Amino acid sequence: PPVAEIRSALLAWYDRHARVLPWRSPPGSGERPDPYRVWLSEVMLQQTTVPHATPYFLEFTRRWPTVVDLAAAPDETLMAAWAGLGYYARARNLLACARAVAVDHGGVFPDTEAGLRGLPGVGPYTAAAVAAIAFDRPANVVDGNVERVMARLFAVETPLPAAKPELTRLAATLVADRRPGDWAQALMDLGATVCRPKSPLCERCPVAFACAALTTGAPDAYPRRSQK
Ligand code: ADE
Repeated sequence: PPVAEIRSALLAWYDRHARVLPWRSPPGSGERPDPYRVWLSEVMLQQTTVPHATPYFLEFTRRWPTVVDLAAAPDETLMAAWAGLGYYARARNLLACARAVAVDHGGVFPDTEAGLRGLPGVGPYTAAAVAAIAFDRPANVVDGNVERVMARLFAVETPLPAAKPELTRLAATLVADRRPGDWAQALMDLGATVCRPKSPLCERCPVAFACAALTTGAPDAYPRRSQK
């Protein structure tokens, strides 16, 4: 596939169509977003959608503007603020991670994927997302949206969930050497707004020229799913 063309087309699309979200730095500002805000948003977004997570994100960052502030929150206060986001183990991990950053790292998030993986509750997805988005590291950030984009771009015939390792490898072949943080978010935005699970908007897709699933005539038939 034309990797260089895919990268530049998607980044150019992102420059025009990036969603404005409270944990992102202003589009085109060239500023790196606050790692604390990126980490908090990614933990919340593993739990729920952007519209549902957004008011929680705003409330959390108003009450606890820094990771050191969050680390000082009593457990019960944090649990109450988390109510409605579900899956309380995640809230416990959130607090454990904030306290580790505050106590063991002087309030500063590690700036590499490996360093981030050393924090409590930070798995491969969160480490890759924070490394890419907050620190512009060329990490391979693969969530459900990115899996769907890869399954379509490459018309992967292996059904989910067996296809996951293959989809992760394919995503790695595209990770941009330039602007990896924007690349990760461009793929997420493409998956959320254009390469949607149902009724994908292929006529608006900046990488339709390279999409193998579109060529089959049934892009929404990807990713394949195993019959139950
Ligand atoms: N979903 C998970 N992380 C996201 C992000 N950084 N931007 C938009 N959607 C997301």
